[in-house]
Amino acid sequence: MLFADLLVLYNINSAELVDMGVFTRPAFEMLNKFYKVIVGASSAREGTIGTKLEFIDDAGTHVKRIIAQSENVAYYYIVTHPKRVAFYTYAMFNHLNITAKERSEITVAALLHDIEKTSWNNLLLYEKSYTDFTEEDKRRIYDHPTNSAALIRELTKDKKGKLPGASEEIFKIIEQHHENIDGTGYPHKLRNGQIALGAKIIRVADSYDAMTADRQYRKQPNMTPEEAIADLYANVSRYDPQMIKALEAVPVADRVGIAHIA
Ligand SMILES: [Fe+2]
Repeated sequence: MLFADLLVLYNINSAELVDMGVFTRPAFEMLNKFYKVIVGASSAREGTIGTKLEFIDDAGTHVKRIIAQSENVAYYYIVTHPKRVAFYTYAMFNHLNITAKERSEITVAALLHDIEKTSWNNLLLYEKSYTDFTEEDKRRIYDHPTNSAALIRELTKDKKGKLPGASEEIFKIIEQHHENIDGTGYPHKLRNGQIALGAKIIRVADSYDAMTADRQYRKQPNMTPEEAIADLYANVSRYDPQMIKALEAVPVADRVGIAHIA
């Protein structure tokens, strides 16, 4: 599967994204290469991401299997959730002072931020309440930003080193996407000034999606866009308020959750 194919799944015109400066050409090529090695198609049933994904390098020597017990988990974390988070972050760029390079890096990170969750084989984790989590469950959650970054780092290496477009900034954003500005996030309990701009943007878009779309997935009613924005403000100690404002400035029609971009 080429990244371009994934964008088709997302109803995104990839050439347009490069033209519009959402991706730099090297970043786009890197994503293309990355998705080429996701052989989701090999085990996919018609039109869906399957339960077994294989990551294979160009030489075909390294094979890493990622097994998701539930195809819903893989589908959610590869296709639907990152797609919406990338859309929301992209829409937020219009209300933030941000360079073309940053746009590209942040959009790549938004599309890949939870990739390691596809390896979680315990669907129960998604149905449990937090109070029922075991130590092992908690460790998985706390480690997923670091493990997602490590996985992308590993998969974007070629014989000469990193693929063009696979920047340290992208790895950093992915690793920091659950950090809170008040130091209560994970995995490193970073504070405001220590957190990458892209991680702050994704933190807000990610939470917003969890409230407006993820709840249905967890068999809870979704919040409305207004309720979700109110919830972000109610927890403003965690989030950079500038990022909440940027999301709030996005027209509601462009951020209506799962019905909009499933
Ligand atoms: Fe995450």
